[in-house]
Amino acid sequence: MKFFVDTADLNEIKDLAATGMVDGVTTNPSLAAKSGKKFVDLIAEICAVVPGPVSAEVTALDHATMMKEAAVLKKIAKNVTIKVPLTPDGLKTCKALSSEGTMVNVTLCFSANQALLAAKAGAAFISPFVGRLDDIGYDGLELIADICQIYNNYEFKTEVLVASIRHPVHVLQAAKLGAHVGTMPPSTLRALFNHPLTDKGLKAFMDDWAKTGQSII
Ligand code: E4P
Repeated sequence: MKFFVDTADLNEIKDLAATGMVDGVTTNPSLAAKSGKKFVDLIAEICAVVPGPVSAEVTALDHATMMKEAAVLKKIAKNVTIKVPLTPDGLKTCKALSSEGTMVNVTLCFSANQALLAAKAGAAFISPFVGRLDDIGYDGLELIADICQIYNNYEFKTEVLVASIRHPVHVLQAAKLGAHVGTMPPSTLRALFNHPLTDKGLKAFMDDWAKTGQSII
């Protein structure tokens, strides 16, 4: 399973990239706004740190303007993935861009039928939002199971990019379902490293080691 980090905070991205666990980055207009940076500069900075796919979202709502925005974003770096919303115009844009070999991430997916449409439009990634579904009383992970099954049935190449991940159990369940990618906030990625028994065990080992008075180097 690939791990993407869902943030526009460059310091967080650098810090986590150094762990070797970051395969890509997703941003959205809300995260970009929070960064306070010029969007094109922000994406260029992220692409310089992470060589994997970096999602940059168009902000137009109509196909023609989405294509113009995508042309600007694509020029930033080779690893820019154009993110489009799951709307008729977004999918039209997805089809046009993927036909010319550009990677597209279709975002704001909340149903399996929407995911089917995105795959038919040639999306490189589909982003179903599990946390936002859970928030309104639906089962976000059930949607992931449905999409994985449908994509397997038809051997679609579109990767399931589980988005709106809120905690490590989302990551675990998505991995058990065979989702290709999980994009998560920095805090969730960091939480994956932790276990109280690791901390407890390490402390006991270090205490015993200190008693030997030895040093390896
Ligand atoms: C994915 O690409 C989105 O940016 C993200 O996962 C949304 O997460 P949220 O529902 O926590 O805002």
